Amino acid sequence: MSPQMLLQQIKNRYPVAEQTIPLTTAHIRMAVIDDPDQLLDTLSKEDQWGMLHLPYWTYLWPSAIGLAHYLDQIHGFARQRVLEIGCGFGLAGIVACQKGGVVLFTDYERDTLTFARYNTLRNGCVNRASFVQMDWNTPCLKGKFSRILASDVIYEETHWDPILTLIQTYLTPDGDAIFSEPNRVSASGFLERIGRYGFTYAKQTDDVVSPDGTVSKISIYCVKRGR
Ligand SMILES: C[S@@+](CC[C@H](N)C(=O)[O-])C[C@H]1O[C@@H](n2cnc3c(N)ncnc32)[C@H](O)[C@@H]1O
Repeated sequence: MSPQMLLQQIKNRYPVAEQTIPLTTAHIRMAVIDDPDQLLDTLSKEDQWGMLHLPYWTYLWPSAIGLAHYLDQIHGFARQRVLEIGCGFGLAGIVACQKGGVVLFTDYERDTLTFARYNTLRNGCVNRASFVQMDWNTPCLKGKFSRILASDVIYEETHWDPILTLIQTYLTPDGDAIFSEPNRVSASGFLERIGRYGFTYAKQTDDVVSPDGTVSKISIYCVKRGR
């Protein structure tokens, strides 16, 4: 499908805005949802246990922008298999694609993958991208990945064990999983759990400027096997 047709398909369902994320090596152009607050009521849903799920995927989070900047500065992507979980609009994975990685974008919300596909087309890297709707509680992947990307996905404790199990299963022995998150107090619990799965991590904290000029502090955790 042409980029124009795909964009039209998205616009038939959502109001779309374009945001530019200026990195050192490239300017990434992202189609995102315009004013996602307006969609909160219509897209929030209750699961079978009565738990309310908010449509977090409709926002491009500062953690994604922070991770994009971090990935822009590092090497080791060329021809490597990269997995992004909870990809949302796909920003981090697009940077990995542009640096030569072969990226599998995953999220359990199907519409994120349509945005991510359009965004990879828009940024000229769809030939190194593929897209799978996947719940990290029940992963369905083949083979291993030398890098796993995860931006703003550890905000609930119920996510931690499934995500760490996924990493344990799918990360190559020498690979790394790179998380970004906005310094929530609860993140310390996740970091404590990392050790139980046989991983260690290095942390760095960065200031991130969002397209609307807001500055946020985010942390990046580079997680590897070993103690
Ligand atoms: C806070 S958003 C972050 C989106 C994007 N990574 C970013 O930083 O802009 C969390 C993302 O995780 C996805 N997600 C939540 N629970 C999930 C699950 N169990 N399996 C797969 N994806 C999930 C959501 O659909 C959403 O895209």
